[in-house]
Amino acid sequence: MKEKILMILKQNKDEFLSGEKISDEFGVSRSAIWKYMNVLKEEGYEIESIPRKGYRLISSPDILTYEEIEEYLTTGFIGRNIYYFDSISSTNIKAKEIAMENEEGTIIIAEEQTKGKGRLGRNWTSPKGKGIWMSIILKPKVDPIKVAKITLIGAAAVNQGLKDIGINSYIKWPNDIVIDGKKVCGILTEMSCELNMINYCIMGMGINANLNESDFDEELSKKATSLKSITGNNVDRKKLLACILNRFEELYIPFKERGDIAKTIEISRERSILIGKRVRIIRGELERMGTVVDIDEEGQLIVKYDDGRVEEVFSGEVSVRGMEGYI
Ligand code: BTN
Repeated sequence: MKEKILMILKQNKDEFLSGEKISDEFGVSRSAIWKYMNVLKEEGYEIESIPRKGYRLISSPDILTYEEIEEYLTTGFIGRNIYYFDSISSTNIKAKEIAMENEEGTIIIAEEQTKGKGRLGRNWTSPKGKGIWMSIILKPKVDPIKVAKITLIGAAAVNQGLKDIGINSYIKWPNDIVIDGKKVCGILTEMSCELNMINYCIMGMGINANLNESDFDEELSKKATSLKSITGNNVDRKKLLACILNRFEELYIPFKERGDIAKTIEISRERSILIGKRVRIIRGELERMGTVVDIDEEGQLIVKYDDGRVEEVFSGEVSVRGMEGYI
């Protein structure tokens, strides 16, 4: 009911709606409506109420609920079922808990993560209300070996979503988004599978939207930054989230239906920060130097090592680093 009342307030944003009208529309008492209005106010909605005129929505809080992003969403199934949390350990952990009983495209989103997970067992800094910390539940009927492609689709979607809100970024294969040489987004894809079948796949995205430099510790601030630090302004998290989900669905459908990632590869190449760069490929203890030549049709990185050998690098558990640092 609260969601329905919010929707009718949003639809009539500049007008007063009488308690009587709302109560007729939804068949609930006027005192119940008054209670729902108070709940909405507690959530941060600014609602003007004037006796004999009714209620009017003045402003909405900066939160990433379905009601707040719906107006920007154009998707069919990605983000149409959202689990929203004010604070949670990790959206990836939650996603894994509920994946089996929820449909593909379901999203878990939190304002804050207390145990945000990064790749290779690292932590992910996720302060309240400042980023986009979310996980998408996916159930593609493809061979588990193909799952790495989903990370590439995610990275391309973030790159294009940022472009939609006027921010130019690069992709650091396979799972980072970079601006001005620093990381603004990371992706952690996890899955549960049988020998030749995926039960579910969780794509976790962490986007450093409105963090301040002081939100990063000294070590992290050498390689990570936020969209706010780069643009000098707070970014509209709701719009950015919806743009990313819209782009993700666009790129994911051809993959899901036909295994087609041609558009993703085109974006990955065009926006790659690695192609042409000297890099270190780190696999466990092993470190090799080379130059990135291309990204192939399968989404693998083609590297020419210093000994002259050219090899495809599969994303798996490698880290790609620049000669001096992150890039
Ligand atoms: C990386 O190391 O670059 C990957 C970072 C992934 C972070 C996101 S935030 C939302 C989701 N939940 C998590 O615990 N991690 C991912």
